[in-house]
Amino acid sequence: MSKVLIIKKKIKKFDKQINVSSDKSLSIRWVLLASLATGKSKGYNLLMSEDVIAALEAVKKLGIKVLVFKGYCEIFGNGINGFKYKNGLIIDAKNSGTLGRLILGLLIKSPKKIKILGDKSLSKRDFSRVTIPLEKFGAKFYYKTKNKLPLSVLGSKSPKGIKYIENKGSAQCKSSVMLAALNASGTTSIKAKKSRNHSELLFKYLKIPIKIKRTKKYDFIDIKQPKEIKAFNYQIPGDISSSAFFMVLTILTNNSKLLIKDVNINPSRIGVITILKKMGAKILLKNQRNYRGEKISNILIESSSNLKGINCPTELNSSAIDEFLIIFLAAAKAKGTSYFKDLSELNQKESPRLDWGSKILNMMGVKTKLTKDSITIYGQPDLKIIKPILIKNYLKDHRVFMMSVIAALTCGGQWEIHNKDSINTSFPSFLKIIKKISNKS
Ligand code: S3P
Repeated sequence: MSKVLIIKKKIKKFDKQINVSSDKSLSIRWVLLASLATGKSKGYNLLMSEDVIAALEAVKKLGIKVLVFKGYCEIFGNGINGFKYKNGLIIDAKNSGTLGRLILGLLIKSPKKIKILGDKSLSKRDFSRVTIPLEKFGAKFYYKTKNKLPLSVLGSKSPKGIKYIENKGSAQCKSSVMLAALNASGTTSIKAKKSRNHSELLFKYLKIPIKIKRTKKYDFIDIKQPKEIKAFNYQIPGDISSSAFFMVLTILTNNSKLLIKDVNINPSRIGVITILKKMGAKILLKNQRNYRGEKISNILIESSSNLKGINCPTELNSSAIDEFLIIFLAAAKAKGTSYFKDLSELNQKESPRLDWGSKILNMMGVKTKLTKDSITIYGQPDLKIIKPILIKNYLKDHRVFMMSVIAALTCGGQWEIHNKDSINTSFPSFLKIIKKISNKS
């Protein structure tokens, strides 16, 4: 199968209903927490993408039985600190920053060294952001290249709770320390800049002793080591990050309508909806309900031909962190200038996304002004793409690929987009859903 996708035509108007793939953050967290629980946990509708499969492989290597069935998965946890493995264990986190960083939190008591690897993209990313706090628990880290994968972790015999200030708004850092707290005596106290709170909600649901005090900018979290985590079943909802591509596809296609069913609209994740609505997009949340602390909803989107530029409030950055590429595309087609600031974290993702966002818009003929942590986009509602566009060598960042496909389908022009398989990281059915939406029936 060719790995190159050629797109030469805009998508035609549509009125459809879809389900997107399951939430990646929740899928990985379910796998890791089920591996610490006692007994059989069942995960329904688990995302079967490369990142989550890497998580399943990782816990299997730690001696945990995993059975995968159609539509669900079983994990037989051995309890907290119940991993069993031989000397010389190697875990491959592949492309997943979430897996690579969260699993280190689980290993702060490991009596033997474990090596963690990643693919080319993950091996370029910073790990000091988790190894620095995890060292405070007594864990030791050994590198070939400082702060980068591959690295080895050796746990401490008796980790003790720590005090930690998380200042980047990184849920991965917060969650890695939260997981480490499960193996540490005493209390772990975290002051964390706002970020997605799936770990907190799962801890609460699992009755792990956790206290949370919320202020406007920071959450103060205290965790005590639980005696046991009971096995638990969990139904993973749809991913807002995957939905975002289809929201913008619909907004930018004339006379179209799309209903996305059963999406997780956790308030710490819906920055994309807030931003697009502020720009004038028509998005409605329907049939909202609660599930174990998470909020689930259907999302109805309609074409919105009068988008206007936005001066994006920085307090929305963390709740839209994975959606900025596709938001930049909306800004490119909006009337007026858009400003996005304080976004240095975007260049710490699977690829330097602030740079890639700007590069792709420039290839399309849209003017941008880029700094280390900000982008200004000069919108062109009547954009016509003149030159052929080639997207390659983007470290196979799944979101660069998907943004490019949506740009091609909504803005026209001739596109050659390489490494189709990059979608397998988070959204293997992405192109199938595009096909379904494109079909007349
Ligand atoms: C994630 C947190 C975010 C996000 C990533 C998933 C998570 O990263 O970009 O895709 O599941 O905790 P940071 O925590 O580094 O911002």
